[in-house]
Parts: sequence; C-alpha cells; structure tokens
Amino acid sequence: MTKLLGVIGDPIAHSLSPLIHNGWIRDMGYDAAYEAMHVPDGEFSQALETLSKRDILGVNVTLPHKAAAFLAAYEASEAAKTIGAANTLTYLGNRSWRADNTDAPGFLSALDRQNPDTDEVVILGAGGSAAAIVYALTKSSYQVTILNRTVEKAQALAAALGDSSTVYGSINQYRECIDSAALVINTTSMGYQGDILDLPAGDGRLFFDISYGKVAAPQLTHARDRGWQTKDGLSMLVAQAAVSFEIWFGEAPDRAAALERCQWAMKAVS
Ligand code: ATR
Repeated sequence: MTKLLGVIGDPIAHSLSPLIHNGWIRDMGYDAAYEAMHVPDGEFSQALETLSKRDILGVNVTLPHKAAAFLAAYEASEAAKTIGAANTLTYLGNRSWRADNTDAPGFLSALDRQNPDTDEVVILGAGGSAAAIVYALTKSSYQVTILNRTVEKAQALAAALGDSSTVYGSINQYRECIDSAALVINTTSMGYQGDILDLPAGDGRLFFDISYGKVAAPQLTHARDRGWQTKDGLSMLVAQAAVSFEIWFGEAPDRAAALERCQWAMKAVS
C-alpha cells in the first residue's frame, strides 16, 4: 500500500517540499507519495484526526501550525520540547504522533561551519524560525546576539532559548552589532515587504538569509555588492527536509540532487 506523507500549512500552494520529497521517494524507490495539504489556522487537530484514518507515515508542518503540531504530539524530541514547536510529525499508530524539530539540525547542517567556538553571530528577527536557529546555535557554542524590531520578543527569545552569552537588542542597532560578527542571519520577513538592510562592508563574512528566490534576491545582491559571502534559505530547506526524510525512512537522501531540483524550479518561476 502506498504510504502517504505531506506538508500541512497555510499558505502551502508554493511549497517546494513536495518536489524535494517526491524526488527522493522516486530516486530511492519507496512506495509513498508526498502531498501539499492546505489546512487553515485552527483546523490542525481535525486534519491530524483525518490523516490518522489514512495510510499515513508522517507530515511536515509549516506556518501557522508549528506550535500546534508540538502540542498535538504524544511524544517529542528534546529539540521540539525546548523550542516548543515541531515541523515534523511521525505517525505512531493509535491516533498518536511523535514530534521532531528538524529546522534546528537542518540549519546547522546548511551552515556547514567547522569551528564555531569563536564565532559571534547576529540573528535578525525573533519569530518562529529565529527560535529554532537560536536553539541550534547556542547548543553549538556560538555567541548569539538577537536583534528584533519588537525588542521584547528578542528579550523573550534570549531568555527562553539563549545561554549566558546571549545578547538581545533592537534591530535599529544592527550596524554597530554587525561590526564584530562573523556571521549575520536574516530571519525577518522584511524581504516580503520589499525592505532591505543597508549593510556595512562584509570583508568576506557570511550573510545568511533564510528566505529564498525573489524575496531574498535584493538583500543578497546588496550583501554581495558590499563584500559579503551569501547563502539563501534553499540549502536550509533541503537540509531540514533531509532530516525529516531520514526520520521517516531511516535512510539519508541525496541533498545535492534536491537542491538542484529546487534551483531549477525557482528559475522556472522567475
Ligand atoms: P517566522 O516564523 O518565519 O520567523 P514570524 O514569526 O512572522 O515568521 O517572524 C517574522 C519576523 O520578522 C519578526 O521578528 C518580525 O519582527 P516583529 O517581531 O517586530 O514583528 C520581523 N519583521 C517583519 N517585518 C519586518 C520589518 N519590516 N522590519 C524589521 N523586522 C521585520
């Protein structure tokens, strides 16, 4: 029987997750199908209930349901518990689910940094994506500064998931904070509003924007013009998907093949 997988979210129509997972399922010869599942806010539990009656293996979960996914789970990984959100659910049978958060390991794997000990990192934004990243970075001994438009949210995130070296502040302070940072990570949604940050000289440091495509392009072009190395969010998207896939199938998929398929798909729509 063909096993069902999918990604639950709203909006979900433009998700690249079906392309990524169905590519791996095909390449690796599994009898499974991965679908985009449009579920509005407030209807998450009902959707899980319906799925548990089908031949479901697991689901990815995206906005606005990541906190609901954690709360709905019968058991959860340490990362999901600490972050208080899950992007991966695995069906255990008997209407029970296990929650994992693969955004955190996915981010670290996409970052691919060998010697983090001395790295000062500035994280712009304090929403759900920033939470998984703060968790991943503080666990890996980075010194993290969280800057957000709403300072109280940066403060709350630092208190919940940071360590004794974690600092927070207003995004208006970004220029002075970036001076000593080896790495800047933009998790804000300002790119969706067409806004970009005017960056100081990068001198070969890394600017990582977790969005991708047209949303990230103006900021990343500006960063490169100012001498930054840049990375967009596609590698993180693929890496978190790969960790989810391995949870479900017990076998690591080919990330490079998925990244290439995503890059082609992005080009096709631009
Ligand atoms: P996600 O789950 O992807 O992190 P989110 O929870 O909606 O999304 O968080 C969006 C982040 O972008 C927030 O940190 C938000 O700042 P506020 O907490 O002050 O709302 C930030 N953001 C959105 N638009 C912004 C803008 N124009 N300038 C600066 N920050 C912005």
